[in-house]
Amino acid sequence: MPAQPDGAQPAAQPAPPLFTWEFAADPYPAYAWLREHAPVHRTKLPSGVEAWLVTRYADARQALADSRLSKNPAHHSEQAHRTGRVGIPGERQADLMTHLLNIDPPDHTRLRRLVSKAFTPRRVAEFEPRVQQLTDRLIDGFAQRGSADLIHEFAFPLPIYAICDMLGVPAEDQDDFRDWAGMMLRHTKPGHGGSQRGGVGRAVKRMRAYLLELIHRKRADLGDDLISGLIRASDHGEHLTENEAAAMAFILLFAGFETTVNLIGNGTYALLRNPGQRALLQESVARGETALLETGIEELLRYDGPVELATWRFATAPLTIGGVDIPVGDPVLVVLAAADRDPARFADENTLDLARSDNPHLGFGHGIHYCIGAPLARLEGRSALATLLSRLPDLRLAETPENLRWRGGLIMRGLRELPVEFSPEI
Ligand code: HEM
Repeated sequence: MPAQPDGAQPAAQPAPPLFTWEFAADPYPAYAWLREHAPVHRTKLPSGVEAWLVTRYADARQALADSRLSKNPAHHSEQAHRTGRVGIPGERQADLMTHLLNIDPPDHTRLRRLVSKAFTPRRVAEFEPRVQQLTDRLIDGFAQRGSADLIHEFAFPLPIYAICDMLGVPAEDQDDFRDWAGMMLRHTKPGHGGSQRGGVGRAVKRMRAYLLELIHRKRADLGDDLISGLIRASDHGEHLTENEAAAMAFILLFAGFETTVNLIGNGTYALLRNPGQRALLQESVARGETALLETGIEELLRYDGPVELATWRFATAPLTIGGVDIPVGDPVLVVLAAADRDPARFADENTLDLARSDNPHLGFGHGIHYCIGAPLARLEGRSALATLLSRLPDLRLAETPENLRWRGGLIMRGLRELPVEFSPEI
């Protein structure tokens, strides 16, 4: 008989279906069921891999910080690893995949320390005027039209141009990155990691070749961009190798791109569906205040965050989560979206409250893999939402929520499109 998780209530009905299109559109009722009846739940993913889903806040936070859960896909139990279905898209890209989200200490500690020397909060703060410029330029592109698809015309290009600029990718090459990033976003089916399919492999390969070449050029002519900062960074005389710097630039692009698209997309959508909260924020922004914008971004990350499930973890020693024993080699997926709506931690968990002050959400993760790009993501989110609301004050949905399509990848949660209408700017 399977172990009963701590405090779980026996269920009259079987577990609701997971990873269907209906689930992708609104996974929260299914997550509420899991939290109550099967908070540590073993399930077969559509890819065929079996994994544990952890849905309660306390268990999720503990699992994210548990050093017995490795990020290295080599720790996945033999069989699934041999079929190559987890983590690494292909042997050729393996060196690019040796990045922060796939490694453990001491390698992780060393690489994280080096990147932290280059990707500093100060560098991000100094970037604010540039992000504002990019935001305004993108809105200029559709403001006079009276309608737009906010995903394709705004949420998608903003993060890619921002991180390219910060890394020091020349302006004339940035549209290539836009194309590669677009290839990475296509063809996601519910429950599959979008990063593992064919077109994605080609995009990764081209990005890798480009980044290696760029790093090579920058090494001879260092500037004040982030790639130069990565090359320059040293710790006790240690530097990043060219491959490590390329893998680092790649993960900054990869981890910082779709996530921020979804913060802007999900965030705008949540505001449009909660007119009272949107009005409060709009008035506050018009008065030039920042407090509600700041707590509001955190609440949008909690309420419908970009990262639905934290990236893969694998048990390297027997451990117990929420009263359930996890065998060595088993994958564990921490469901951030479920944990952040746990009523045991968040009052009125299903209510969007932009002023929520007690809000230790897990949207940026927790522990040693806590998002290194959080300051940049917050900056982009603030700039995007405040500028949209002030420049297009009567912004409204141009499609019924039932007709909107969600992307439905395994890790990320985001809309495929967000059609809106507004009075054209004159
Ligand atoms: C890690 C979320 C934006 C770079 C993470 C993790 C989460 C996350 C949940 C931890 C994953 C895990 O433990 O499995 C987000 C969200 C973002 C965002 C919600 C936007 C709203 C960014 C940006 C960058 C970035 C803009 C860089 C430019 C990274 C990196 C890691 C990471 C490099 C790995 C850190 C490590 O393993 O030490 N992010 N992220 N992220 N994020 Fe972000």
